[in-house]
Amino acid sequence: MNKPSPNAPYLDAIRAAKRTLRQQIPDYKERFEALTAVLKSDIADIQAIRAKGECPVPEIAFDALDQVTEAQRENIKRRGCVVIKGVFPKAQIEAWNSDIAHYLDDVKYLERMEEKRGIDQYFSALASSKPQIYSVYWSKPQMQARQSEALARTRQWLNRLWKYQHDGADVFNPDQELTYVDRVRQRQPGDATLGLSPHCDGGTIERWIDPGYQQVYRHIFGGDLSAYDAFDAAYRTVAREIPSPAVCRMFRTFQGWTALTRQGPGDGTLNVLPIANAVPWMLLRALQDDVPEDELCGAQAGRAMLVSEQYHAMLLDGYGPIPQVEAGDTVWWHPDVIHGVEDKHQGTGYSNVIYIGAAPDCDKNRIFSDLQRAAFETGASSPDFAAENYELGFEGRAMLSDLSPLGRRQMGY
Ligand SMILES: [Fe+2]
Repeated sequence: MNKPSPNAPYLDAIRAAKRTLRQQIPDYKERFEALTAVLKSDIADIQAIRAKGECPVPEIAFDALDQVTEAQRENIKRRGCVVIKGVFPKAQIEAWNSDIAHYLDDVKYLERMEEKRGIDQYFSALASSKPQIYSVYWSKPQMQARQSEALARTRQWLNRLWKYQHDGADVFNPDQELTYVDRVRQRQPGDATLGLSPHCDGGTIERWIDPGYQQVYRHIFGGDLSAYDAFDAAYRTVAREIPSPAVCRMFRTFQGWTALTRQGPGDGTLNVLPIANAVPWMLLRALQDDVPEDELCGAQAGRAMLVSEQYHAMLLDGYGPIPQVEAGDTVWWHPDVIHGVEDKHQGTGYSNVIYIGAAPDCDKNRIFSDLQRAAFETGASSPDFAAENYELGFEGRAMLSDLSPLGRRQMGY
């Protein structure tokens, strides 16, 4: 017997949203064509940069954050992603990398993994299988990186790329993070079984059916298309995701990671489509007449939002690797940026990262922070992920006494 589709409970809502949106935007075809033309030109630009052997992903030095020009900022916002280099010194990173490896041994991760298979369904819709991502949340290196002054500064800078006020009120506080705890990647050289197909996180069908998301994309779904700004935070914190293991319940201005090892193209690392406005294009794509009334170009509730070969092939022409990064560099991408992990690690060293995004203080994030803090106190898995609980009750994890004053604030204490 076939499994019911994850969209089964939402088919009426999908049909209704498509009907309403099309009525609301009678020019949905022209709009889609206009946005297609913009994206095609962006993609041609990206391909031309790659053809010269350069990388379209902007790079800036941590030490130069104060000197970033307006033109650089605009370029980062257009590309929706950025590498910030030299955030941590090498010696610090090497210590963290080795401590995490020991930590995984100490919690007997690999032995216990077999028992827990099958809990995490999030990536089951992706063509490639599960990557070498370890579901540990509370090691001391992770906590030390999260509460570092360097990352606080980096994320403050990133948060401030956003327009964070709306109707005279702050949507979020760009200067104060609320930690969103995530996992680590330790990818062996030669690994070919693991990878992530191009996708974006933060919700799938809710981008069409949720009233909050409809407001986020109000300029796509009506009015002046050119008024849409991917970095306008208005309504982003009131969008509601369909609850699902591993769909982030916090609002992140950027997803991101800190490199624990040198890694670049071919090393089983991140690929991106460096375009902040790809999701709006996908939104309009699903409203076109060739897509069945109860479908959204393959978007499935509670999963990652995939790039469909059938509907979105054009986007793949702009998809490609991030530049070579060194240990201590950090990589950041907007929550609407399509990204994935290379299927094959053809390099010679481990490609390891700690996932640390930017999640500023706001009401939405406080609600989740309260749940997360309770998990911290027992060592349970983050409540946003499958309850694998490798660290539950494990004494070697980070404890309250390991938090700095900044770390305590970021954990909502
Ligand atoms: Fe992702």
